[in-house]
Amino acid sequence: MLETEGDLGLNRCMDTIGVGLIGCGTVGSGLIRNLPTANALIAERLGFGLEIRSIAIRNLAKTRSPLPVKVVDDWKKVISDPLVQIVVELVGGTEDSFAIAEAALKAKKPLITANKALLAERGLQLLPLARKLSTPIYFEASVAGGIPVLKALREGLVANQLLGLHGIINGTSNYILSQMAEKGSDFQNALQQAKDLGYAEADDRLDVDGVDAAHKAAILCFLAYGFLPAFREIPIEGIRHVTAQDVSFARQLGYVIKLLAIVRPVRPDRVEVRVAPTLIPVRHPMASVHGVFNAVGLVGNLAGPVQFTGRGAGPDATSSALLADLAEAAKNLRDNAPGPVLPRTDGKIQMIGKGESVGRFYLRLQVEDRPGVLAQVAGIFAAEKIGISSVLQPEAHGAGTVPLIFLLELTSEASLEKAVTLISKLPNSRAPARIFRVEDLS
Ligand code: HSE
Repeated sequence: MLETEGDLGLNRCMDTIGVGLIGCGTVGSGLIRNLPTANALIAERLGFGLEIRSIAIRNLAKTRSPLPVKVVDDWKKVISDPLVQIVVELVGGTEDSFAIAEAALKAKKPLITANKALLAERGLQLLPLARKLSTPIYFEASVAGGIPVLKALREGLVANQLLGLHGIINGTSNYILSQMAEKGSDFQNALQQAKDLGYAEADDRLDVDGVDAAHKAAILCFLAYGFLPAFREIPIEGIRHVTAQDVSFARQLGYVIKLLAIVRPVRPDRVEVRVAPTLIPVRHPMASVHGVFNAVGLVGNLAGPVQFTGRGAGPDATSSALLADLAEAAKNLRDNAPGPVLPRTDGKIQMIGKGESVGRFYLRLQVEDRPGVLAQVAGIFAAEKIGISSVLQPEAHGAGTVPLIFLLELTSEASLEKAVTLISKLPNSRAPARIFRVEDLS
C-alpha cells in the first residue's frame, strides 16, 4: 500500500519526476487539485510519482487557491529549473504557447499541452522541431477532454485503415444545443452556464463559432490520415445561426442538430475536413450525446465502427488526459524510451477543394404564403437535379409568410449554391435561406 505524504500523494522514498506548470487557470487548477489522488494510483501502477516543482502564471497578483510550490511570473524560469523534467503548457493561444513549446523542446524537456490551437495552427512547425530535437510532445488533453481517443488512434487502431471519422468535439456547443433542445433555453443563457461550469474557452467565440472543434478535427485528421490540414482552409461554421425553430423542425423530420466535425477520405489523396451544425438521425447513438459530453465515431477496416463517448470539457475530464500524458511521459523518461510515434506528413494527401463537397442538406426558407411558391422552389431544385426527400410547411395562421423546410438528397455544394441563389431571387422569397448539413452516419 502506498504511503502518501503531504499534499502530493507521494511516498518520499520512491522516484519522483519533476513537473513544471506554465499557466494555471481552470485546467491547471484542476490538475493541481487532482494530482494527489492520481499520484497514489500512478505510483501503485507505475512505481513512480509526479511532483509539481515550479509554476509560472502571468499575473502574480491574481487571487487563486493555494498552490503547492513557489510561483513565478516568468515561464523561462520554469523551463530552466533543473528540478523540472517535464513541462506542461496551459497558457492557450498560439504565440506565447509556441515560444514556450519551442523553449521546452530545445531544453530537451518533454512537453505536455492541452492547446489544440497551438497544434492545429502551428503543428507544422512544432512537430518537425520535436522530431529534430528527439523530444516528445504529448497532447491527449487537446481533443475530447476525458476520452483517450488520441491514444486509441495512435496505438489501439494503428493497424487500421480509417474509412471515416466524425465527432461531437466541442463540449460548450453541445451543452448549448442540448439545453436549447431539451429545456428550451435561449442561446445566451446556455452559453453563460457553460462558462460557469468551466467548459468554455477564455474566448468563447472559439467554441460557438466552431473554431475549437476545427482545431480538434485537424488534430484527429493528423493522427488518422497522417496530414495536418492547412487550418485556414478548413470550412468552419458554428452554432450561432441554429434557432429553437430549427431544432424543432429537425426533430419533426426525425433528426437532432449537433455541431459535427467530419474527417473522411473521398479519394486516395484527398480528405474532407469540416465543422458545421449538422442534422443527424434521432435514432443514431450520437444523437443521445448530450450536454458537455463529446463523442468520436470512426470506422476502421479491421475494427469496424467504433464510438467513444465521454466528458469533453471541464477541469476534471481534462486533468484525466493531462495526467495520462504525464504518466506516459514520466514512464518514457524513466525507461529512457522515445515518446509516442506520430505520423510523418509527406504532403501527398490534401484537403478537397472548396465546393467539391457532396452531401445532404436541410434548407429553411421564409416565403410569402401564396399558391405556387412551393412549386417554384421545387422547380428550381428539379432544374439543378437536386432530389427532395422531405418537405415541411407549417400553417401560416394569417401571418403572411411561412417557413418552408426541405431535406434534400445527395447533391454537390456547387449545385446547392446555384439553387439557393435562384431561390433568393424569387419575388416571394422573404429571408436568406438557412442551410445545415445532414449526415446519416450509416
Ligand atoms: N472549450 C472546450 C469545449 C474545452 O467546450 O469543448 C475542451 O477542449
